[in-house]
This record gives sequence, C-alpha cells and structure tokens, in this order.
Amino acid sequence: MLNNIQILEFSTGLTFVTDLLLIINTGSIVHGFTIPPSLTLQNVNDIEIYSMKIDCKVTSRFAHNVITSRAANRANVSKEAFFEVELPKTAFITNFTMTIDGVTYPGNIKEKEVAKQQYQTAVSRGQTAGLVKASGRKTEKFTVSVNIAAASKVTFELTYEELLKRNFGKYEMFIRVNPKQLVNSFEIEAKIFEPQGISELEAEASFVTNELLPVIKKSFSEKKGHVSFKPTLDQQRTCGNCTSSLLKGDFTIKYDIKRDTPGDLQIVNGYFVHFFAPTNLPNMPKNIVFVIDNSGSMSGREIQQTREALLKILKDIKEEDHFNFILFESVVRVWKNNLVKATPENVTEANDFVRGITAMGGTDLNGGLMKGIEMLNEAYETNAVPRRSASLVIMLTDGQPNVGVSNLAQIQENAKNAIQGKYPLYNLGFGYGVDYNFLEKLALENNGLARRIYPDSDADLQLQDFYEEVANPMLAEVELQYPENVISDLTQNNFKHFYDGTEIVVAGRITDNDLNSLTANVKAQGANDDLIFTEHADVAEMTKALQEQEYIFGDYIERLWAYLTIQQLLDKRMSAQGEEKGNLTAQALDLSLKYKFVTPLTSMVVTKPEDEEIADKPIEGTNVLLFHKGKPIDGDPHFIISVPEKEDAICFNINEEPDVVLNLIRDSVTGITVNGQLIGDKNSSDVNSHNTYFGKLGIILEQLDIKLEITPKKIILQNGRKFTLFTWLDTVNLQQESLTLIINRKKNLMLSVGDGATFVVVLHQVWKKHPLHQDFLGFYTLDSHRLSERTHGLLGQFFHHIDFSILEVHPGSDPNKPDATMVVKNNTLTVTRGWQKDYRKDPKHGVDIPCWFIHNNGAGLIDGVHTDYILSSMF
Ligand SMILES: *[C@@H]1O[C@H](CO)[C@@H](O)[C@H](O)[C@H]1NC(C)=O
Ligand SMILES: *[C@@H]1O[C@H](CO)[C@@H](O)[C@H](O)[C@H]1NC(C)=O
Ligand SMILES: *[C@@H]1O[C@H](CO)[C@@H](O)[C@H](O)[C@H]1NC(C)=O
Ligand SMILES: *[C@@H]1O[C@H](CO)[C@@H](O)[C@H](O)[C@H]1NC(C)=O
Ligand SMILES: *[C@@H]1O[C@H](CO)[C@@H](O)[C@H](O)[C@H]1NC(C)=O
Ligand SMILES: *[C@@H]1O[C@H](CO)[C@@H](O)[C@H](O)[C@H]1NC(C)=O
Ligand SMILES: *[C@@H]1O[C@H](CO)[C@@H](O)[C@H](O)[C@H]1NC(C)=O
Repeated sequence: MLNNIQILEFSTGLTFVTDLLLIINTGSIVHGFTIPPSLTLQNVNDIEIYSMKIDCKVTSRFAHNVITSRAANRANVSKEAFFEVELPKTAFITNFTMTIDGVTYPGNIKEKEVAKQQYQTAVSRGQTAGLVKASGRKTEKFTVSVNIAAASKVTFELTYEELLKRNFGKYEMFIRVNPKQLVNSFEIEAKIFEPQGISELEAEASFVTNELLPVIKKSFSEKKGHVSFKPTLDQQRTCGNCTSSLLKGDFTIKYDIKRDTPGDLQIVNGYFVHFFAPTNLPNMPKNIVFVIDNSGSMSGREIQQTREALLKILKDIKEEDHFNFILFESVVRVWKNNLVKATPENVTEANDFVRGITAMGGTDLNGGLMKGIEMLNEAYETNAVPRRSASLVIMLTDGQPNVGVSNLAQIQENAKNAIQGKYPLYNLGFGYGVDYNFLEKLALENNGLARRIYPDSDADLQLQDFYEEVANPMLAEVELQYPENVISDLTQNNFKHFYDGTEIVVAGRITDNDLNSLTANVKAQGANDDLIFTEHADVAEMTKALQEQEYIFGDYIERLWAYLTIQQLLDKRMSAQGEEKGNLTAQALDLSLKYKFVTPLTSMVVTKPEDEEIADKPIEGTNVLLFHKGKPIDGDPHFIISVPEKEDAICFNINEEPDVVLNLIRDSVTGITVNGQLIGDKNSSDVNSHNTYFGKLGIILEQLDIKLEITPKKIILQNGRKFTLFTWLDTVNLQQESLTLIINRKKNLMLSVGDGATFVVVLHQVWKKHPLHQDFLGFYTLDSHRLSERTHGLLGQFFHHIDFSILEVHPGSDPNKPDATMVVKNNTLTVTRGWQKDYRKDPKHGVDIPCWFIHNNGAGLIDGVHTDYILSSMF
C-alpha cells in the first residue's frame, strides 16, 4: 500500500475550504493544503527535530506503532517542516494528527469517494497533486510537510497497525530509521506480549557500530519482551565532532514464541484468534513445476540471474521431491515429458539443462502455464507422484503475454479451470514490465500469492528466498474447524499447505455471550497420515490472564480480526465481478471505516479542530481613530471617529444593501487602500432584518504589490502572483520588508505597513446555529500618521484633521439621549448623544463609547454623499 502525502502549493484560481487540510490515501494521489504557508524560501536547516519516539506495542503478533516527531522552527521566519516515514507495505495507517502551536489537527477516516468530493469542493479549478513513488521493497513512504511560523513548534503523530507474519520461524518487525539530523531525544521502544511465552528475541540495526551495539537493549522473560534503543546526541554522530547522524537504515526486531502445543486459541471481548504452527512434523514430499519465461525480454542479466537461482534451488531440492521445468517464449518447451524424481542423477541432468537456458522470442504465458498444470494433473492421474505430497506451480515472468492466448481474462479462466483448486499457483513478477495486478489476481484465484522480484543485483537471492519459503510443506489440505453455532464472521480457514516456519492465523467473532470455552479442530494431511489437532480455550481463564497484563491494548483480537478480514475481502475483490464485487467492496469499506484503517477504499482527512468559544484577549494600541462594525442587533456599519483633542467622538451609520462595497481609506501617495463589503443576515428575505455588517475587507498595498482579503472564514494574502491562505485558526507572525502581519488565532489580525500605518481587524463570531446572524468583521485604525494629507475615503478623510464644536445641548425625542447642534466642516447639524461599542478590548461584549451621532448616513460630516464611496468591486 502506498501512503503518500503531498502538499499543494497555492496558485491563482483556487477557492479554499478552510476546514480541510490534507487527505491521506493509500495507493494513490493525496491532496493537501499548506497551513499556514510561508512567504519565504524554505530552509530545512532551521527546523530542529528535538524529539522522535517510535513506540511499538505488540500483543499476540498484532503490532500497534506510534511514531511521534516533534520539531521547532528556530528561525525568525516561517519554515517548512517535513515528516517522513517509511511504513511496511502490509501496515494500515489508523491515525495521523498534527499539533501546531498547541492546536491539534485531527485525522478522520472517510470513504475515499467522500474525501475526494470534499477535495473537489475545496478546489474549484483543476489542480493535481503530485504522486510520490513507492520507495522500497518492503516499505512505502509517507511524507507530510507543513509550514510553521517563526519560533513555533509542530508535533506529528502517526499510528499504524499490522499483523506480524511468521517467516523462517520468526516474527519480524522492522523500523526504517532516518531522522536526517541529530535528535536530542531519540528513542525506539518495543514492548511485546505473547501469551504463549517468548522463546527468543533479537534486535539489530543495519547502521549499528561497535559503540552503538550496547545501546540496543533487549530482554525477555516469560510472556514479555522489551527492546529499547536510546542513543544520546553524541552516540548519534557519525564521528567525534560531526553533526551528521549515523542513524540511517533498518532497525529490526525478530522473535519467536514457545510452541508447547501446535496452536493457540485466544478469546477476548467476544472475538477469538487461532494461531496454528505445529513443529516437529516430517516434511511432505513436493511436486513442483517451474514455469519459466525465457522470452526475449528476459535476455541479459535477468535470464542469467534466473539460471543462478534455479541452480541454487536444485542444490536444495530433496531427493523425495518431483520436479520439472517448462520454458515458454514464442514456443513452449519442456525439460522432461513427465515430473522427474530429484535423484542425484536427475538433478545433475537438470543442472545441465538450466545452464543451457537462453532467452529469445515472444511470450506464450498461457501455453507454458497450461503445460505445467497439465503435467501435474497427469502425474496425479497416473500415480507418478506419492499420494501424500504437496504440489505447486511456480511461474516466473517479466513481461506480458503476446503469443498464443494474450487475453488476460481468458488466461485466468483457463488456469482456474485447469487447476480446479488442487494446488497453489505462485507467481513471481520479475521487474517492472510485468502486469503485476494480473499476476496477483491469477495467483489469488488459485490459492497462491504473487511476489515481486526487484531487478537488482540480488534478484537471484530473491528468487531463492521465495523458494525457501515454500520448500518445506508439512501439511496439506489444512482445515480449521470451530463449532458453528457459537461463532461467526470467520476469516479464511482452509489452506492448501502449511509450510514449516510459517503460521496460519484464523479469527472470528463469538456469537454466544455465555460461552465458557471454545474447542477448535484442525484437520490436515501429513506426510505419513491424516492428522487432527485439537485446541481448547477457557474464556474466563483467558480473560483473567490477559487482563493482568499491562502490555495488552484492549481490543487487539477484534482489531486483528478486522485487519485480516479486510485484507481477505480486498484480495477476493480483486478478481470479483459485478454484484459480488459490490458486496465485497461494501463490506471492506464498512470495516475500514469502523476500525479506522486507511485502506484502498478509505482516506484519512486531516481537518481543522472544532471551533471553540472565542477567548478574550485585549489588543494594546493607542486610541487614535477607529472605525468599527457594530454589534449585530444594531445593524449597519457604525463608524466611530475619535477626536482626542476634544476627548470625544463622532459616529455615524451607513445604511446600504448587502454586497455593497465601500471605500474606507484611499491614499494615492502611499498607495494604501482599504475597502469593505457589506453582508446582511442569513435570511435576507426576512422583512425584519435590515442589518448589514462588514463581511469582507480588502486591503491593497500598491507599493508592495500586496492584496489582503479578509473574511470571517479566511485570510488570503496575495503577494504578486503568490497566494497564501490563512484561516482564523492560525497563529501567524509574518514579517516581510516593511510589512508585518500578525494573526491572533480566532481573535484579530494586525497589519502594519512601514512605521506609521497600523490596522486591526477583529473577528466577530456568532453562535453557529444563530437563526439570523452570521460572523462579521470589525476594522480599526491604530496608527495612521504615515498616511498622506491626501488620504480620503469614508474614514480616511478624518485621519489628519477633524474639528467640531457643540453649540447647544437640548432634549431630543429619546429622553435618555439629548440632541445638540454641531458645527463641523462649516455645516450646522443636529446630532444626538449616543453610544457605540468598541470591541477591541472586549470582543464579546464591547466597551461603550459615548459619541455624537450624525444622522442620515453621515450627511454634512462626510465629504459629498455616502453613495460617492460605493465601489463596483473590492479590488
Ligand atoms: C531574522 O534573523 C536575521 C538573521 O539573524 C536578521 O538579519 C533579521 O533582521 C531577523 N528578522 C527579524 C524580523 O527579526
Ligand atoms: C488519534 O491520535 C490523537 C492524538 O494522539 C488522539 O487524540 C486521538 O484520540 C486518536 N484518534 C483515534 C481514533 O484513536
Ligand atoms: C572538536 O571540536 C573541539 C572544539 O571546536 C576541538 O577542540 C576538538 O579538537 C575537536 N575534536 C575533533 C576530534 O575534531
Ligand atoms: C529420474 O527420474 C525418473 C523418474 O522419477 C526415475 O525413474 C529415474 O530413475 C531417474 N533418473 C535418474 C537418472 O535417476
Ligand atoms: C450481495 O448482498 C446482498 C445483500 O446482502 C445479497 O442479497 C446478495 O446475494 C449478495 N450478492 C452476492 C453476489 O454475494
Ligand atoms: C426567512 O424569513 C422569512 C420571513 O420572515 C420566513 O418566512 C422564512 O421562513 C425564513 N427562512 C428561513 C430559512 O429562516
Ligand atoms: C467655511 O466657510 C468659510 C466661509 O464660507 C470659508 O471661507 C471656509 O473655507 C470654509 N471652510 C471649509 C473647511 O470648508
């Protein structure tokens, strides 16, 4: 499974959904958004990973791993921090969270289609994210990068789970280590709990030096194993004074368990798992047909490596085994007409044959495979092979069929009909030219599996290794049986062969709540006779024993069952059609969502956290002049102009329709412009609602080629052609040339230009489910002295000079609010004493500011009439 994260750079024409950050997929493209993006060039060196912890808990082969990486941006500008992990291909991601400056962005599992739609809503125009390629044989790379603000910290936490497979007699867990820098606190810790008891435990690192060797600590006793690796900063150095890290490579933990009984049955919380791996049984003779592609594409190193591998395999083949070679290119050639016993003479002859294999021609895969199957069938029918033996077909190919039958579906059909479930077909796909998907389907439909052979110098070893895995069949036709009336949802319980050094795992659900004990029978054919193994588990005893173990994570059997079930459903789905495929998909999806596994059917969507109440934090600033959007119930933007010389203020409203854009400040000398767009209530058809607020503000800094668009949802900074998105959930402190932008999460935004123009925008959030009101903005000018005398606009015209005199105060229509005669700008106006709210210090309730209210949209106070300030658009 491929787990990629790719972050999109923003470019023109994107719309943003502020609550969607990243989508984590398995197997394909991933989409994401930067948070909060930076304006500067990235320099990874300023990001210090100060802590990295890899925490593994294994309970009964089921591993739960948490990787936590903490990094700090030591620079005074924002920087990009990378989180890169290589995961085993067999693992499922179950959780991913980022914590940036104390705010946690959680990952939520979603159906892939739903995530895709969410992404498509987020991006209005076709924008594709890049694809990160699979990085290794056993691992896939997972990469996330985020921009973090100056002097800020980020924590990444990734969780994945997998069932450890037994191979060559050991369970193996490996961790790819590559922090790329010295890490102050680096630690790998693994805690293993195996109810059957641990028999051996190894831990090694490919990068280990003599000095580092004692740092790897491992111990086990009875059921518990412990591994830890905690190198100090100095121990991580590649040399005495070096700053490069030698921690680069694989950290591998291998263990096996005691096997006093052939199997082990465990029951916890309504689920059971049955591990079955008998030891000390005689090997069964095997009948093996090698179907080898020697078409032209194999020529050169590939055919040479194939020859070498086959020669080594011939050395290991046992005398009681039967075997044969089928070669296919444009024609099909057999070594012998029948299976041949692996007597020393026959093996010697086989060696000569193998040495003479050359490559040429096309690829008649169907012909070769059919011939091989036919030969095995015939051997059975003529009793040419022992009755108790394990038969298998191993096919190796590097290309796609192009001679004979080349329709892949037809080949699948042919193979299925010919084999009829009698023996497994193993497909080895050599190199990248193969249709691996087809090989996998073909193998899975016939009880086998497919394996990739990577075209490397060790390809022969890879082939040989695969052979070793199946070299020692001990049992055939293995069937694990459970009392039907007490269990359900059983995973696969029939297996063609059991090979030495491996393990069979079956899990299921217990349907009988009052079950006291469970008995399992395993029937199989052995080398000498038919065998029955019986396993018994006492529920109460087991529950008690497991509860006492601190290592256990509660629902491991249930998760193990879900993991196996999903894997098997996905395998079956590969070759299913129509309604059956739909059913399998639905089941696998259901389980992936329920157990939160990132599978090919699901995505993990990393979102912004749920909104909380807005906290109150006063902004400091001199009270020079301010304009401010009033509280929702009053309606319409309120402008307050503070007149310090008079220790008093003037205020007025502008009554206009939603969507109208008003010019607030325009200074042609400094090139600073501020415009505001009105919004109404949610239900504008409501006749009682005439309220308007500022729903969008646009600030243009011509000389810096910067535009800032602010809404209650997002803040978009456009610097030339570069767009940067922030949300009100971000905490940002951005300094660039003569510009400072500070976003105080969920509260306000401060923009300073040069040393004499500072504006503050306050976010007003209303209750989300409020029937009428919606979020809006307030705008304040803290400092305007750098703006020129020519500054105009609804607010700007008052920046440099405003004087007024109150001639006579007299009772007005409202007994609490006296009227007065005011002379301002040579006009004599009747004004009313009132209050307006200043929300800078108390964003929730505001502070009442007494002021003289000018009626009729500020008529007589503002130059011209208010409609002179209406613009056709924001920018
Ligand atoms: C950031 O750091 C650099 C290098 O130390 C310094 O030159 C620059 O003035 C600093 N910028 C700010 C905004 O503090
Ligand atoms: C995911 O990890 C976060 C951080 O540790 C944790 O708070 C959250 O509960 C986890 N989610 C699930 C579904 O386990
Ligand atoms: C390490 O650095 C210190 C201080 O710079 C110096 O005195 C010492 O000789 C260096 N050691 C080595 C091994 O280079
Ligand atoms: C080769 O195998 C055949 C068939 O099993 C067997 O009869 C014959 O004796 C073997 N040949 C040699 C030379 O061992
Ligand atoms: C698919 O599921 C439906 C409903 O569960 C069932 O009726 C139908 O038989 C299933 N079809 C196949 C092909 O499994
Ligand atoms: C909007 O207001 C009108 C008039 O008051 C009312 O009939 C209608 O139900 C309201 N719609 C919503 C969605 O609240
Ligand atoms: C006020 O009116 C007087 C006399 O009409 C005029 O001289 C003066 O320029 C006016 N001042 C302003 C600010 O319009």
